[in-house]
Amino acid sequence: MPAYCPPHIPASEITPKNLYLSRRSFVGGAAAAGFAFAGTGQAFASPLAGKPSDYKVDEKLTPKEAVTTYNNFYEFGVNKEDPSQNAGSFKPTPWSIKVDGLVGKPKEFGLDELMKMSLEDRTYRMRCVEGWSMVIPWIGFPLSAILDQVEPQGSAKYVSFETVVRPEEMPGQKGFFQPLPWPYVEGLRLDEARNPLTILAVGLYGETLPNQNGAPIRLVVPWKYGFKSIKSIVKISLVEKQPQTTWKNSNAREYGFYSNVNPAVDHPRWSQATEQRIGEGGLFGSNRHPTLPFNGYADQVASLYAGMDLKANY
Ligand code: MTE
Repeated sequence: MPAYCPPHIPASEITPKNLYLSRRSFVGGAAAAGFAFAGTGQAFASPLAGKPSDYKVDEKLTPKEAVTTYNNFYEFGVNKEDPSQNAGSFKPTPWSIKVDGLVGKPKEFGLDELMKMSLEDRTYRMRCVEGWSMVIPWIGFPLSAILDQVEPQGSAKYVSFETVVRPEEMPGQKGFFQPLPWPYVEGLRLDEARNPLTILAVGLYGETLPNQNGAPIRLVVPWKYGFKSIKSIVKISLVEKQPQTTWKNSNAREYGFYSNVNPAVDHPRWSQATEQRIGEGGLFGSNRHPTLPFNGYADQVASLYAGMDLKANY
């Protein structure tokens, strides 16, 4: 088990907006004063449009500043600020995703082709297993669009995903302390992967993805805890058996394969009944929201788990 799991910071200690934004102004000031930062990870972000879709959430968007500076991407370090500070040297182009395994037509999708898929604007609620949440305007396309092209065979029951390994560009993969084994891997059941809510995102807030948010292409599964949404994907395989997943491998008692957002099933170390909406309220503000079953997407996905014991399949 690594020294850090995603929830090494209890929800009660999550840095409130006013504090971490002031930390950001320190970073900005230090940069202006001539300190050499690895980069902001924004270097490659450029305008990008998706067509409007019905996938919207009638809730306040989390400020872009918070979405792009407070997140997990252990390949760039284990702290929330690390991805935005350490992802500047990462090169998201050229890129391709190899799709193989139990398929009729294996294929390598180049980034140009992926960017030409039918892109949509999708605003999703996102809930991290650590107890914080955001509302993020993504740009992406349904994962089913590429699954259909490769023609999964009848024996394919699951989809596995793999992140790139590039120690030269990802400081968290280099050096003595390696918080996780690489590559970071994730998996979904095939019907979850084909659900219309499941997208491959290539942008957020009207721009291509910043490096720290998973450039150039990452998964977004809004009814599951954030760690299922794997970033900077290079490989997708259709398989028969439930695939390995990074956090379950690291600590199976705390992180299951399904990881559906479920306020009724506590994490072994804390309740999952409420969440802190990042960017709302201040130090003493009332910014806790009740966590909703399947993160509010029960109408679309609860049927996928009919008859399953979701306490045993956490
Ligand atoms: N993907 C990779 N490759 N490496 C990671 O460390 N962290 C996960 C997920 N995807 C992670 C990853 C976790 S724990 C979370 S909460 C989300 O990314 C957070 O990122 P986001 O806020 O950009 O969605």
